[in-house]
Amino acid sequence: MTPGVRPLIAGNWKMNGTLAEATALARGVAAGSAPAVELLVCPPFPHLVPVAAALAGSAVALGAQDCHAAAKGAHTGDVAAPMLADLGARYVILGHSERRADHGESDAVVRAKAVAALAAALVPVVCVGESEAQRLSGEAETVVAGQLAGSLPEGFAAAGGVVAYEPVWAIGTGRTPTEADIAAMHARIRAELEATFGPAGATLRILYGGSLKPSNAEAILALPHVDGGLIGGASLKAEDFLAIAAAAG
Ligand code: 13P
Repeated sequence: MTPGVRPLIAGNWKMNGTLAEATALARGVAAGSAPAVELLVCPPFPHLVPVAAALAGSAVALGAQDCHAAAKGAHTGDVAAPMLADLGARYVILGHSERRADHGESDAVVRAKAVAALAAALVPVVCVGESEAQRLSGEAETVVAGQLAGSLPEGFAAAGGVVAYEPVWAIGTGRTPTEADIAAMHARIRAELEATFGPAGATLRILYGGSLKPSNAEAILALPHVDGGLIGGASLKAEDFLAIAAAAG
């Protein structure tokens, strides 16, 4: 944790669930109480509006999993940032490794999307993280520093932008880096944010993501410069998601 920074516990529901499951999950999360932390859920696009309705009156924030770099226009199948803001989303995940891999999103593309998110008054949650080969060859920190330099636009810090460190090899695998490796990477990300944005970089939230679950959350979320989590699999059960949030608070 970073002193004075309110942790963010974010659920990335990815491409999962029926409409009924999504609204039930949203109601379950909204029924939980975690006043010390900010809760965020990021359902798939078709579920955003009904989930917003299920969250109404709660303190749980709504986010999307991607947006287009353009504010509108001829982009079949894509979703623009102002559309997300219009239906009540406050955050948007950008540059997730699954999008970087599945859709060939480069740092420049992620940066352009983050610019669009900021223009629509959405808070970008920009994901970075090394592959297993990069970790094994000792390049992890250099890779992540490069992703930050290429992906974070001007105005990111002023808008309270969020960075999520998600080692690709830890996503959905049940494996996590050692606590020392997570702490070292988060310290490096903090240093990069301060070098780029000055004092504002000192209080931006840096989330850890990758096989975060109730049993390892307390130890990981207690590490310096780990200001919350971005959770995939364990965010699909309200009970597990809220247990992780309790570990952060
Ligand atoms: P898991 O928690 O399923 O490993 O996924 C992490 C992730 O990719 C969140 O964005």
